[in-house]
Amino acid sequence: MSSLFIDNKELESLLQTLQPYAKTGSMPTYIPELNQMNPDLFGCAVYKDEHIVAAGSADFLFTLQSVSKVISLALALMDHGEEKVFSKVGMEPTGDPFHTIQALEEEKPSKPLNPMINAGALAVTSLIAGNSGDEKIGRLLTFIHELTDNPSISVCEKTAKSERENADLNRALSYFMKSHDVIDGDMESLLDVYIKQCSIQLNCKDLARIGSIIGKKGRDPNSGRNIIPPRIARIVKTFMVTCGMYNASGEFAIKAGIPAKSGVSGALVAALPDGTGMGIISPPLDKKGNSAAGLKLLETLAEKYSLSIF
Ligand code: DON
Repeated sequence: MSSLFIDNKELESLLQTLQPYAKTGSMPTYIPELNQMNPDLFGCAVYKDEHIVAAGSADFLFTLQSVSKVISLALALMDHGEEKVFSKVGMEPTGDPFHTIQALEEEKPSKPLNPMINAGALAVTSLIAGNSGDEKIGRLLTFIHELTDNPSISVCEKTAKSERENADLNRALSYFMKSHDVIDGDMESLLDVYIKQCSIQLNCKDLARIGSIIGKKGRDPNSGRNIIPPRIARIVKTFMVTCGMYNASGEFAIKAGIPAKSGVSGALVAALPDGTGMGIISPPLDKKGNSAAGLKLLETLAEKYSLSIF
């Protein structure tokens, strides 16, 4: 028996009501391939215990972008444990945008404040185990195949190329951290893995399943086995609450109270502790880089169905 809080019809009608909010956002420009996305795409999937409700463009493929940061964090923690990972990246939210370099200069030692901003995510990706960039991204993909139960998920090379041609800020963040001994190794190889990680392509249904697993302590809904150890799932979910929307995280926690993570493609993943996961796509972004209509949808769902965890 499905215990989902919403059905297909209700979700479809909510998407139609909230579609105008996409117009309050704008398309990202610094990754040209993302700028080419259809601004009217609006899709959502809700997943729990192998049951799924989906509406709008829920089957459309998009890239994870910063949503990938929660998955790479889980993998790096599984590879190395908390002590090592948190010697490279902090646990504190910032009041700054996702690409901030300022805090790296101010912090001593200059480790990034948290794993959700780009500097922190780069430090985390540098910790994914593997003897080569290919092995690292291969391991991340295998992990995502397990989380989604979808072995066809792969990197969108076109989006990766587009980001690679416009990656100077992330390049600067990486070399800055290397020069301060926060991370080591070949920075160009690190950037390549990070860019590919951001360009992994999936749909709202895949994303909703990932949210469900993170929400429910890392437990695979089919087998009951833990794909992510419960403590690591808890850490990841906590970062989603405190840092998932960058410098809009506080407001989002008050308005929705749902652990969630955004990406500059307009993607959102949400992870509720009862194992309800949500995947959303709506490309136009608000001023802080979060999907404008996507946030409105989560806020509306939270209000209407009392989803706040607080
Ligand atoms: O590194 C970047 O800038 C992008 N690949 C990801 C940034 C992102 O998704 C920020 N989220 N809203």
